[in-house]
Amino acid sequence: PNQPPVVFHWFPFLGSTVVYGMEPYKFFNKCQEQYGDVFTFILLGRKMTVTLGPKGNEFVFNGKHADLCAEEAYTHLTTPVFGSGVVYDCPNHMLMEQKKFMKFGLTTETFKAYVPLIKDEVVNYFQTSPFFSGQSGKVPLSTAIPQLTLFTASRSLQGREVREALTTTHAALFHDLDMGFTPVNFMFPWLPLPHNAKRDKAQKAMAKLYLDIISRRKSGEDSKKEIDMIWNLMNRSYKSGETLSDLHIAHCMIALLMAGQHTSMATTTWTLLHLAAKPEIQKALYDEQVKVFGKDLAPLTYEKLSELQMVNNVVKEILRVHPPLHSIMRKVKSPLHVPDTNFVIPSSHFVMAAPGVSAMDEKYFKNAKEFDPFRWVGHEADEDNAEKFDFGFGLVSKGTASPYLPFGAGRHRCIGEQFANVQLGTIISTLVREFEFSLPPGQKDVPLVDYNSMVALAMAPAMVHWKRRPG
Ligand code: HEM
Repeated sequence: PNQPPVVFHWFPFLGSTVVYGMEPYKFFNKCQEQYGDVFTFILLGRKMTVTLGPKGNEFVFNGKHADLCAEEAYTHLTTPVFGSGVVYDCPNHMLMEQKKFMKFGLTTETFKAYVPLIKDEVVNYFQTSPFFSGQSGKVPLSTAIPQLTLFTASRSLQGREVREALTTTHAALFHDLDMGFTPVNFMFPWLPLPHNAKRDKAQKAMAKLYLDIISRRKSGEDSKKEIDMIWNLMNRSYKSGETLSDLHIAHCMIALLMAGQHTSMATTTWTLLHLAAKPEIQKALYDEQVKVFGKDLAPLTYEKLSELQMVNNVVKEILRVHPPLHSIMRKVKSPLHVPDTNFVIPSSHFVMAAPGVSAMDEKYFKNAKEFDPFRWVGHEADEDNAEKFDFGFGLVSKGTASPYLPFGAGRHRCIGEQFANVQLGTIISTLVREFEFSLPPGQKDVPLVDYNSMVALAMAPAMVHWKRRPG
């Protein structure tokens, strides 16, 4: 058995860090051409074996926990931000339980309650944000969209008290914590940089926000009981009989906030940019609102959201062309044979999946580079749908050798997909009801991608022009 080929590089420790970091897809495609679907590159001294294509995706996502470990790949980055004892700072079986607890708080009943809350936040944002005053204007997406996704997710999933704190007492703290969630912290989380000191202070203060809310709720001081994730987690306990401690609840809440914020923010930003570039898609979305809600546009509801096929296809297509997470990593725990090859990956390596590569491959999608939501029409059933995996993490799911896996698969699969669809569907519907968007004059296409962040963002300045729909 052989080891996978190593990507040529000049400097031992640096390896391919810079080319990978600047343009990961260009790097993956070039290596695929030269070495095939399986190859190893050096990322700041670490040996990363990439496995591309649907089979490669399956290899990483469906790896057994004894062979491939996520916590060793991610804990340096996530634990200082989320806090101790949860997610990647506990044994994997506890994460599996924590994910079930979280899923418990993401039911049809909660989604029904969330849709009007999210809609109200979006409308309130238009009414109060200086970016949306008057009949037309332009909006810098890198400022406006993070606010919009933070306010909507916090008002619904996180709860009213968290929403209030995030615009008042805790706005700056959230920002400091967020600054600790950067790629450089994958490798150097302990660097005594000023932003890491701020991150640690902000983590404690954010945890205290949740601890105070929990204690007020426990003492009965908080009488306005709304459905939210904090209430849900307060009622869960591990199989061992141990309850989820208040601190673990706080840390799970921070993990949910961070996991949802970056992914939804990137998806909303790219959606607006592509809509601005293609007025015909805005028209299809608006026509669909009229068809489903009537010409007076009745209020959005959770039930009706699932009838909005065009909205769903737009989100699906955005996640194909701009999956927020370009690299999925695991630490190899014992030498692993790569199926259908002669390669064995030694236990000193990490493995990496990049499902975005197969999602943009001509082999699986015609005109793969083009943003075309209509390609999904009639293929709704082909999608890697959530039900298949519902409560299925921990199990090795069949049929995950898919070229399209924006939410991952297997035991680490996303639990936030349905929430993300509710949030994005409500935001997009509300936006197209009110506005028409266009790119700035002279700009023909959406901006290039900036990979210097946790998620694939649009290169600055990401601007769209808007005008109010008549009537
Ligand atoms: C896991 C993508 C939204 C919570 C994942 C994974 C992906 C992903 C690819 C797998 C990571 C891995 O295997 O290493 C996305 C995308 C989103 C999104 C594209 C939105 C468009 C959310 C939201 C939440 C969330 C809104 C919370 C409400 C989680 C959690 C995990 C996860 C808890 C599990 C991590 C693990 O088991 O290791 N997500 N996510 N995500 N996501 Fe999401």
